Amino acid sequence: MQDTITNEPSSQNSGEGVALIGRPVISATGLFTPTESITNEELVASFNEFVDCHNAENAEAIEAGDVEALTYSSVEFIEKASGIKARHVMTKEPILNPDIMAPRFEERSNDEQSMMCEIGVKAARQALERAGRDPKDVDAVLCAASNMERGYPAMAIEIQQALGIEGFGFDMNVACSSATFGIQTAADYVRAGNAKSVLVVSPEITSGHLNWRDRDSHFIFGDVATAVLVEDAARAPANHWEILSTKLKTVFSNNIRNNFGFLNRATPEGVGKADKLFVQEGRKVFKEVVPMVADMIIEEAKRLRMDPKTLRRLWLHQANAGMNRLISQRVLGHEANDDESPTVLDTYGNTSSAGSIIAFHLNSEDLDVGDTGLICSFGAGYSAGTVFVRKIA
Ligand code: COA
Repeated sequence: MQDTITNEPSSQNSGEGVALIGRPVISATGLFTPTESITNEELVASFNEFVDCHNAENAEAIEAGDVEALTYSSVEFIEKASGIKARHVMTKEPILNPDIMAPRFEERSNDEQSMMCEIGVKAARQALERAGRDPKDVDAVLCAASNMERGYPAMAIEIQQALGIEGFGFDMNVACSSATFGIQTAADYVRAGNAKSVLVVSPEITSGHLNWRDRDSHFIFGDVATAVLVEDAARAPANHWEILSTKLKTVFSNNIRNNFGFLNRATPEGVGKADKLFVQEGRKVFKEVVPMVADMIIEEAKRLRMDPKTLRRLWLHQANAGMNRLISQRVLGHEANDDESPTVLDTYGNTSSAGSIIAFHLNSEDLDVGDTGLICSFGAGYSAGTVFVRKIA
């Protein structure tokens, strides 16, 4: 079936009435992984120490029914419910300190590189090196991530300057789907002939918006940065990935939310202010997002006249092992093994938009020329993005 696939534009941009000039491909990807990592054992020990302190300090109020006693977290629950065993973080010590339980970063002056720029540049440099691409030949930088370190100037413009790229850059945020939305945006620039080479950089410092004192979610996230170089096939290096199609979807939901904003500043220590950090209804997310994403993949495969069961590999968003099991089951028609749907959740945790890109970066070189695969993200919004790709020699 896959022989019938042509280089389809995104189904949001059907190309009708538009002269499509470029053929977008993924030339290379890059990954930056922080050196520090927190195991579930370390995380739970610190969390439970916090619970003991909180309950001891509030013993009388708890006894009187004015304050709720907190409950222990458990390693077994975390691993069973999510598949996560560890996560990388930018600053381990303050997160594990029961008196702090948040990352602590030294304030940087305006003359210093910001953190998102620093780690984004590391991932981007790797992508550029792998593609053998001179930064001068890149036309645009998109910084696509769940949260931005500041309002402006755009992180993307700082990354652009640090890499010595001419052209333009801008930030975009679609939470966990930021990277795939970035890939479609980059691909559309290439299709329209507005750019030949676009870097999509996703620095995800999720530790800054996770509530490390919330038992329901304290184990979920990790920090990382990824980069994807989307280019016109005419200039791509050998061994690239043709982008067969991109498709995006959003449906409003309050089930994953972060109320932090410039009108609404975060106070992580403040009682009742937890909604300025990540909050979710995990069960509802699980139930509502799995069918939405599986249907979207199957429909897009149909549009491409492709049997989804022929997909050689699924690089799915890395939020929950159970969700990925169900999605791949619906798409492939059987329970996927690690080769068909690799996971990085165990060592990286949920890295928001970077997750499916890490899975692709670490698990794509072994595929054969002609193999097709799917990069897929989903998360807050709700939002979901699919990028069907085929390996080219
Ligand atoms: N340690 C031990 N027990 C815990 C716990 C913890 N850290 N957190 C919750 N529990 C308990 C709950 O209190 C509950 O106990 P009860 O049955 O006695 O009430 C039980 O475990 C089940 O809790 P629940 O929140 O329903 O767990 P779950 O099986 O739904 O798993 C998630 C939680 C978050 C891992 C899961 O719902 C999920 O991953 N959903 C998708 C989330 C997602 O992808 N979000 C996108 C983010 S970008």
